Amino acid sequence: MARLSFCVVVALATSLCGLAGAAPVDEPYVVKTVRNPNYKVDGRAEYAKALSKWGVKLPNGLAQHVSSKPQVGTVSAETQGGDREYLTPIGIGTPPQTILLDLDTGSADFWVYSSETNPDILGNRSRWDPKSSTTAQPIPNSSWSIQYGDGSTARGHAWKDTISVGGINIPNAVVESALSVSDSMATDAEMGGIFGLAIGLGSEVYPVQPTVLKKLSPLLKHKVFAADLQYHADGTYQFGAVDGNKFKGNLHWTPLIDDAQYWQFNFSVFNIQGSDIWYWYNWSGIADTGSTLLMLDDDVVAFYYDGVEGAAYNKSYGLWTYPCDTKLPDFHLGLGDGHGNWTARIPGRYLNYTVYETEGWECMGGLQGNAGASFSIFGDVFLKAFYAVFDIGGKRVGFADKHLN
Ligand SMILES: *[C@@H]1O[C@H](CO)[C@@H](O)[C@H](O)[C@H]1NC(C)=O
Ligand SMILES: *[C@@H]1O[C@H](CO)[C@@H](O)[C@H](O)[C@H]1NC(C)=O
Ligand SMILES: *[C@@H]1O[C@H](CO)[C@@H](O)[C@H](O)[C@H]1NC(C)=O
Ligand SMILES: *[C@@H]1O[C@H](CO)[C@@H](O)[C@H](O)[C@H]1NC(C)=O
Ligand SMILES: *[C@@H]1O[C@H](CO)[C@@H](O)[C@H](O)[C@H]1NC(C)=O
Ligand SMILES: *[C@@H]1O[C@H](CO)[C@@H](O)[C@H](O)[C@H]1NC(C)=O
Ligand SMILES: *[C@@H]1O[C@H](CO)[C@@H](O)[C@H](O)[C@H]1NC(C)=O
Repeated sequence: MARLSFCVVVALATSLCGLAGAAPVDEPYVVKTVRNPNYKVDGRAEYAKALSKWGVKLPNGLAQHVSSKPQVGTVSAETQGGDREYLTPIGIGTPPQTILLDLDTGSADFWVYSSETNPDILGNRSRWDPKSSTTAQPIPNSSWSIQYGDGSTARGHAWKDTISVGGINIPNAVVESALSVSDSMATDAEMGGIFGLAIGLGSEVYPVQPTVLKKLSPLLKHKVFAADLQYHADGTYQFGAVDGNKFKGNLHWTPLIDDAQYWQFNFSVFNIQGSDIWYWYNWSGIADTGSTLLMLDDDVVAFYYDGVEGAAYNKSYGLWTYPCDTKLPDFHLGLGDGHGNWTARIPGRYLNYTVYETEGWECMGGLQGNAGASFSIFGDVFLKAFYAVFDIGGKRVGFADKHLN
C-alpha cells in the first residue's frame, strides 16, 4: 500500500467550472497534426527524455538504461501505434517550405533542421533551405544552444523569415537553424524541428529575440490556440479561434499560476474509476504537448497502481508496468481548487501506453511518476482525452470533453 499523503474529501462545495462557452470560429487557421507512425516507441527512453527535459534526476536504473542506450527508439519490440509524438506541417520562407514540426507547449525555441545542418544527421527529413527563401535574413552574430538533461543537444544560429501557421503569416519571425544536433536527438528521423509554444519563457537565442509565439499572438483574432490531439489517430491544432464543433459541453477554464513561464496551473483533487471517494492533493502541473506521458507525483501514481491487478514498480527502470491484459481504471482530476461540476476524466485505455516487454506480455502505463519534481507533466496521454485551449491573452487553459475514439 502506498503512503498516503493526501486526505479524503467528504463534501465538496467549491466550483470553478462552466465559466464560458466557445468563441465562434471565424478564421480557418487549422493545421492538421499527424502522428509520427514510423517512430519506434521505447517507453523507457520516452520516460527518461520527458524527465530530462524537465531537469528531473532520473531514477537510477532508468539512467543506466538511457546512458547505455543513447539511441532512443531501439529497444521496444512493438510499436503498436503508440502516440509518441505528433508532427505538424509548418511553412517557412517565401515561397513557403513545408517542414514537419513537433508543436511543443513545454519549450520556447523554434528550431529546425536546415540546409546548414551537418549532413551526417540530416537523413531524409524535411528541412528548411534559407537560400531558397526570398525573405530569409541572417541575424548577425546570433547563436543558440539547447541542452537537455539526458545530454542531447542542438545548437546553431538564427535567421528571420516568414513563418506560416495554418494560413497565418508571421513576418520576420526568428527561425533557429540547427548546425548540429546530437545523435540521440537525430534518431527521430521524421521530425524537422520543434515549434516551442511556452507562454512566458524566452528562447535561447543570443542576442535576445522575441519568441515566435510573441510575434504570432498579435496576429490572432482571439489570442488562443487549441490542441485537439487524438488517441491513435491524427489531430489538429487551431490558432486564433476555438471550434465549438470539436467538443461537448463547456470549456472549463483554470488560471495559470502567477508569472507562469509554462502553461502551468493547479490541480487539487483526484479520483479513481469514478468512485465516490475524492482525494485532496494540492499540486501544480504543466500542459506539455511535446511530452508523451502523464507524470504525476510518485505517491499518487503508486496509489493508482496499487489498485491495478498485477501492476508492479520495476525498480531497475523506475517505472510502472502490468500484464497487458489488465484493464486499467479511469483516472479523474479536478481543476483549480475543487472539482466543481466537471472533472477531467482520462479513460483507462488511454493510460495503457505501450507494450514494454513482449516476452512476459508486460505493458507500460502512460501514467508514471514525476521522480520527485515539484510539478506534474500533462503530456499527450492526458491532452488526447480533451479539447485543450491555451489562452494567451487570458493566461489560462481550458479543457472540454470531446468524442473519444
Ligand atoms: C453545477 O450544477 C448544478 C446542477 O446541475 C447547477 O445548478 C449549477 O449552476 C452548476 N454550477 C456551475 C458552476 O456550473
Ligand atoms: C526520401 O524522401 C523522398 C521524398 O519524400 C522519398 O521518395 C524517398 O523514398 C525517401 N528515401 C528514403 C531513403 O527514405
Ligand atoms: C559580429 O562580430 C564581429 C566579430 O566579433 C564584429 O566585428 C561585428 O561588428 C559583429 N557584427 C554585428 C552586427 O554585431
Ligand atoms: C496554485 O497553488 C499555489 C500553492 O497552493 C498557490 O500559492 C497559488 O495561489 C495557486 N495559484 C492559482 C492560480 O490557483
Ligand atoms: C490544499 O490547499 C487548500 C487551499 O490552498 C488548503 O485549504 C488545503 O488544506 C490544502 N490541502 C492539503 C492536503 O494540503
Ligand atoms: C524490469 O524490467 C526488465 C526489462 O524488461 C526486466 O528484465 C527485469 O526483470 C524487471 N525487473 C523487475 C524488478 O521487475
Ligand atoms: C494495452 O496496450 C497494448 C499495446 O498497445 C495492447 O496490446 C493490449 O491489448 C492493451 N491492453 C488492454 C487491456 O487493452
